[in-house]
Amino acid sequence: MKIVLLYGGRSAEHDVSILSAYSVLNAIYYDYYQVQLVFITKDGVWVKGPLLTEKPKNESVLNLTWDTKDATGEVISPSTIKEEDAVVFPLLHGPNGEDGTIQGFLETIDMPYIGAGVLTSACGMDKIMTKYILQAAGIPQVPYVPVLKNLWKENPKQIFEQCEGTLLYPMFIKPANMGSSVGISKAENREELQNALQEAYKYDTRAIVEQGIEAREIEVAILGNEDVRTTLAGEIVKDVAFYDYNSKYIDNQIVMQIPAEVTEDVQEKAQEFAKKAYIMLGGSGLSRCDFFLTNKNELFLNELNTMPGFTQYSMYPSLWEKMGLKYGDLIEELIQLALKRYKQRQSFLTDVK
Ligand SMILES: Nc1ncnc2c1ncn2[C@@H]1O[C@H](COP(=O)(O)OP(=O)(O)O)[C@@H](O)[C@H]1O
Ligand SMILES: [Mg+2]
Repeated sequence: MKIVLLYGGRSAEHDVSILSAYSVLNAIYYDYYQVQLVFITKDGVWVKGPLLTEKPKNESVLNLTWDTKDATGEVISPSTIKEEDAVVFPLLHGPNGEDGTIQGFLETIDMPYIGAGVLTSACGMDKIMTKYILQAAGIPQVPYVPVLKNLWKENPKQIFEQCEGTLLYPMFIKPANMGSSVGISKAENREELQNALQEAYKYDTRAIVEQGIEAREIEVAILGNEDVRTTLAGEIVKDVAFYDYNSKYIDNQIVMQIPAEVTEDVQEKAQEFAKKAYIMLGGSGLSRCDFFLTNKNELFLNELNTMPGFTQYSMYPSLWEKMGLKYGDLIEELIQLALKRYKQRQSFLTDVK
């Protein structure tokens, strides 16, 4: 069977996606699978690379060229990736990869793919939609105010009053659809709140203002379609107060602690909330569920990442490794889950006919 590995992409997490792709190439079982490389450039151009039948010697295989004489790839129209007996692995993070757009495209060309479907991807990516769904499910989260750009422009004073009436400074201001901490800032007063909203609106017309809290950050890995499995929580141990883009990807200021050193009760609750949130969002395949944990042991669900970082050293695979599921076997499970979900959706369609 062929795995079409989509990597790169147009979001800020382009480079993370390439690292994840290389880890997958190293671990996939080539006795059963061939891997078709399809790179998406930062400008959104699709470049088809070689078909790999064995582990590549190094990561240079992922650096495709297409505009030179000795090109290793060719520019393609996205829909030409369609073929029988293939599963797509959309190893793309952030907007245009993890937000339902690619998923909708793959539904349209009728190919099985790893991970969440359109609705779950779109809602998981949108911080306002996630909050609404979690609220309906009764899952604890930090207090928030959704701030849509058109309402803000109409009456900024009312928005300030609403934020200050509901929340205390410091507040966290975020574009609703981003990721990688891009466009997120912390505000200590009204002036900073105003600047932070303007910053957030550079990335989205929807923003959210949240209660800032001091908390540890713990994460649970989720796997499955209808049978949902979760891992123990791990902790992102930071020596920075704000887990921003630089600390995530550039300064390497992050250490993972697996499992997190928390009480049994916190471990249980994190798993329970993660599972419930995943089910309420209609999850399939995989997700990483991120929480804040205060020093009073209050747990707040922050977000569900439907295509979490997937390098061999990332939190998601590391959590499963700790539970005894090796990286290669994890990929195998994801492929099987993708096929199951595809068949199920096919049967829904044919039963209607
Ligand atoms: N309400 C908050 N209080 C304190 N820190 C926060 C809050 N919201 C976000 N942060 C910090 O900002 C980081 C990024 O925010 P997050 O909501 O996870 O966005 P992203 O989708 O970009 O990962 C978090 O990992 C955390 O360090
Ligand atoms: Mg996050």
